[in-house]
Amino acid sequence: METINILKKRRSIRKYSNKPISKGILKDIVDCGRLAPSDNNSQPWHFLVITEKEELKFISNKATYGEFIKEAAACVIVFCEKNNRHHLEDGAAATENMIIAASSYGIGTCWVAGYNRIYEEDLKEQFKVPRNLKMISIISMGYPGEEPYKQKKPLKEVLYWETF
Ligand SMILES: Cc1cc2nc3c(=O)[nH]c(=O)nc-3n(C[C@H](O)[C@H](O)[C@H](O)COP(=O)(O)O)c2cc1C
Repeated sequence: METINILKKRRSIRKYSNKPISKGILKDIVDCGRLAPSDNNSQPWHFLVITEKEELKFISNKATYGEFIKEAAACVIVFCEKNNRHHLEDGAAATENMIIAASSYGIGTCWVAGYNRIYEEDLKEQFKVPRNLKMISIISMGYPGEEPYKQKKPLKEVLYWETF
């Protein structure tokens, strides 16, 4: 039930407290990403963890809708091997796993779009990312400094039993 509550309560967090996230927790969050389902168990992912303020600023200056990354304690950039047929879905599954794992630790996150973004090349150059990898997402992370509300579609609007 704990997981269900975490899933239902999670909201994207774009304001953070100054509290750092321990390396152990960051490692465990990435560990949860690594255990996500993937096409044919291909596990095409590579996770880049950034905690240095200057680098977070660099990313926030590049990411079109990710200016708040500079206030985060960390971010994880998800890359996948692009020769893999389902690299986008695989990377998205790992991203969501990490978002839920972070929520379980009381850490707020925001998924920042990273797929086919113009800033992909700049980030790859900055962090010496191998050419065969494709950026999938950037996840900002930090202890929450806000409690946002989000309107969600009611279940009856999106759920169909047996047929549409
Ligand atoms: C593929 C994807 C890309 C997203 N890109 C951004 C982004 O670039 N910047 C941002 O602030 N939020 C981004 N978000 C977060 C969404 O805005 C957010 O999930 C949505 O508004 C629903 O709010 P909630 O996460 O609080 O439920 C993205 C989410 C997804 C799944």
